[in-house]
Amino acid sequence: MELNKIKHADCLEYLKSLPSDFVDLVVTDPPYNVSQKSDIKCGNFNVTKNFGDWDYGFDPIPVLQELKRVVKPTGQIYVFCATRQIPIYMQFFEDNCYFRNLLVWNKTNPAPRISKTNFLFANEYLLYAINEKCKMTEVTFNFSKQNEMHNIFITSALQGKERLKDKNRKALHPTQKPLAILKKLIEVSSNEGDVVLDPFMGVGSTAVACKELGRNFLGCELDERYVKLANIRLIQD
Ligand SMILES: C[S@@+](CC[C@H](N)C(=O)[O-])C[C@H]1O[C@@H](n2cnc3c(N)ncnc32)[C@H](O)[C@@H]1O
Repeated sequence: MELNKIKHADCLEYLKSLPSDFVDLVVTDPPYNVSQKSDIKCGNFNVTKNFGDWDYGFDPIPVLQELKRVVKPTGQIYVFCATRQIPIYMQFFEDNCYFRNLLVWNKTNPAPRISKTNFLFANEYLLYAINEKCKMTEVTFNFSKQNEMHNIFITSALQGKERLKDKNRKALHPTQKPLAILKKLIEVSSNEGDVVLDPFMGVGSTAVACKELGRNFLGCELDERYVKLANIRLIQD
């Protein structure tokens, strides 16, 4: 299989094509199942919470089972998720892997709560596990300084130059993740030359982070438009 290439494919078909015990690290951002079909009225504007057909009815379990197979026993897995998905991932990692931590991405610019009937959703989460119970001396974990290893990332949701936009300044992907978070995870849990997998590449943020850090990447994305954007990004980077 070809390293440093994003395949246009469905995640399960793609994962089934990979050999067992091959991957050093998974950093991935699967669908959150949070989309809503109808827009939210905000004064004169309509705010859409519909990310795309891909964000409905996603079942993480078959994907997790395949990830477990392709990752080396001492390999590590980070999965971004929404609040309601935490128990699903946590249970899987407790039952089948070596659950290590729940990391929080605290967004300093969450979407406003127009109705003012609940708190804002300012956090997204990352479940962190090692594939199998093992001694930590066998695991790559590049701890830096105490104050750089808190289990919280405080940044704005992606905006500015890093956010891919069309000529009308509209975001090209609804959930593009910040490179700073991805790079931190990859630096801590892999070494140069290691193989990092993301079967939900979107516009290729994990791949770009790997390229910048000298790691090999592999992965796939269902939407061909996003694969093309990811490839343009990788050439430009
Ligand atoms: C949350 S987004 C990932 C965004 C990515 N982290 C980035 O920064 O661009 C999830 C992505 O998974 C893709 N996707 C959804 N279902 C998929 C499937 N069955 N196989 C592969 N990709 C899928 C979607 O098209 C979407 O781009």
